[in-house]
Amino acid sequence: MHRGKILSGGLIAAVSIFVSTQVFAQADVIEKRQKLMKGQSAAAKAIKKAGEAKDYTTIEMKAKDLMGSSEKITDHFPKGSTAGKTKAKAEIWDQWDDFGKKAKNLRKAASELADAAKSGDEGAVKVKVKAVSESCSGCHKAFRAEKYSE
Ligand code: HEC
Repeated sequence: MHRGKILSGGLIAAVSIFVSTQVFAQADVIEKRQKLMKGQSAAAKAIKKAGEAKDYTTIEMKAKDLMGSSEKITDHFPKGSTAGKTKAKAEIWDQWDDFGKKAKNLRKAASELADAAKSGDEGAVKVKVKAVSESCSGCHKAFRAEKYSE
């Protein structure tokens, strides 16, 4: 009887350690993807600033950074990574193909922006900068909540 209690107590402790490890692991995943997004935001801001200065070299470089980061988006959203301070909506995993498509849209827009910047075509750069920013907001509108879950 006594032994049974100790055993089940141990089991509960083991389970709760397991659960908190899972939550920690998720917090790490969430932090990493928010960092990835913040990096994208920094790149988008740098692009806007460089646009005003007609600094096409910087635009091309930052657009290429966005191409690279866009390819990492889906890997940062493992299924069920919703425990913690996150704005990720559950719809991401219900509509996974669409989520992936929106990440690809960003890659395409960033790639077209890099090309436009390389050619130094001011009008095309403007159009593509807008397309990049719309691909960010397109995904956020569908898959990012207004508030953090915690
Ligand atoms: C495929 C979907 C998708 C695309 C494309 C996307 N985002 Fe996000 N973004 C998200 C989701 C989902 C979150 C919420 C993540 C979380 O809180 O766990 C987010 C969060 C953010 C955040 C807040 C990070 C934080 O610290 O909470 C910023 C800033 C951001 N995105 C900027 C951008 C910019 C700039 C672009 C375009 C260059 C972009 N995102 C493209 C889905 C996307």
